[in-house]
Amino acid sequence: MPSSSRTMRAVQYDKYGGGAEGLKHVQVPVPSPKKGQLLVRVEAASINPLDWRFQKGNGRPFLPSKFPFAPVCELTGEVVELGAGASGFRPGDKIVAVNFPGSGGLAEYAVVSASNAALRPPEVSAVEGACIPIAAATALVALRTAGVSLDAGDGPAKNVLVTAASGGVGTFAVQLASLTGHNHVTATCGARNLDLVRSLGADEALDYKTTEGAALRGPSGPKHDAVVHCAEGFPWSAFAPALAGAGGVVVDLTPRVASVAVAVFHWLCFSRKRLVPLIVSTKKEDMEALMGLVVQGKIRAVVDSRYPLSRAHEGWAKSMSGHATGKIIVEMRDDAE
Ligand SMILES: NC(=O)c1ccc[n+]([C@@H]2O[C@H](COP(=O)([O-])OP(=O)(O)OC[C@H]3O[C@@H](n4cnc5c(N)ncnc54)[C@H](OP(=O)(O)O)[C@@H]3O)[C@@H](O)[C@H]2O)c1
Repeated sequence: MPSSSRTMRAVQYDKYGGGAEGLKHVQVPVPSPKKGQLLVRVEAASINPLDWRFQKGNGRPFLPSKFPFAPVCELTGEVVELGAGASGFRPGDKIVAVNFPGSGGLAEYAVVSASNAALRPPEVSAVEGACIPIAAATALVALRTAGVSLDAGDGPAKNVLVTAASGGVGTFAVQLASLTGHNHVTATCGARNLDLVRSLGADEALDYKTTEGAALRGPSGPKHDAVVHCAEGFPWSAFAPALAGAGGVVVDLTPRVASVAVAVFHWLCFSRKRLVPLIVSTKKEDMEALMGLVVQGKIRAVVDSRYPLSRAHEGWAKSMSGHATGKIIVEMRDDAE
C-alpha cells in the first residue's frame, strides 16, 4: 500500500506562539519519500530549544515554511521506504537523522534526506540515537571550531570552559572535551548539577549563580583557551577577563546580532581573543563517529525525561522552561504510552 494512503499520529502547530498548549495531536497521511529521501518509522525524537523558538516566531517569516507544521528535527528510527535516487540504506536499517528545516519528528513516520542520515549500530538504543544528530554533533563541531583536540596525541592540551554544561549540548561537550584526559575542563551549571558535570569529566564545576560562576572562572582555576558557550545572554566583556592572554576562542552557540558585530570586530583587528558565532550543520561522518564513541562506552546520553507521543506537549513545556538536565525524548512505541 502506498504510504500516503495510510494515516499516522502526529503533533503539529498551526500558528506562531502558543507554547505547549499550541501543539495539536492529529491524524494525518503518512508522508511519501521524495527524490533522495527516506521514509522512516520514528522510534524516538528529541526536543531542542530550536524547535520551540521556531514556534515562537524566531525564524519568521522563513521558518516554519508553512502551517500546519510538524516540529522536531532530531530523530531516530527504521527505514521503511526509499525515495527515487536515495542510496546507502535499505528498508529495515536503523538510522539517526537531522531533518532541518523539514522537521516532522513528533510523528509515527517522517521523511528525511538520505544525506542527513547515518546508520545506527545495534548497540546504540533509540533513546541514545535521538540525542546524537543535533546535541552531540553540535558539541563536537563546537569543540573542533574552538581548536580543541579530542585526541591526546593531536595538538596541545587546552583549558576548556563549557557553559550550561548540564544541558543537552553541554553534557556532550564536557564528555568530549575530557575524553582523553589531556584537557582541563571547567563547566558552569546550576548547583543541583555540579556532581553530574563532574561525573561527566569536568575537572572543575562552577555554580552559575555564584560570583565565580558569573566570572566563568574559579579563584585558582586556569584562564581558558577555548569556550563552548551554550548559555545565553553573556556580553563579550564577561568572557574577555577569563580568557588566556595568549589568545582564547569563544564559540558562541547562542549568537545574537551583538555577537556577530563583536566577531566581525575581532576578525578585522586580528584579535588574539575571539568570539566565533556558530550555527552547526551536522555531517554524516560526525554522527557516525559519535555513535562509535557511544558503542565504545566513551560517551553517554544524559536523559532529562522521556514522554510517549501522547504527552509530547509536556516535554515541549519542559524544554521551554530552560531547566532540562540533558535531553528530552519523545518515544513513539505503543508501550511508551
Ligand atoms: N548554534 C547551534 O548550532 C546550536 C545547536 C544546538 C543548540 N544550540 C543552542 O544552544 C543552547 C543550549 O542548548 P541545549 O539543548 O543544551 O539547552 P538546554 O538543554 O535547554 O539547557 C538547559 C540547561 O542549561 C542550564 N543553564 C541555563 N542558563 C545557564 C547559565 N547561565 N549558566 C549555566 N547553566 C545554565 C540549565 O541549568 P538550570 O536548570 O540549573 O538553570 C539547564 O540544565 C540553546 O540556546 C540552543 O538553542 C545551538
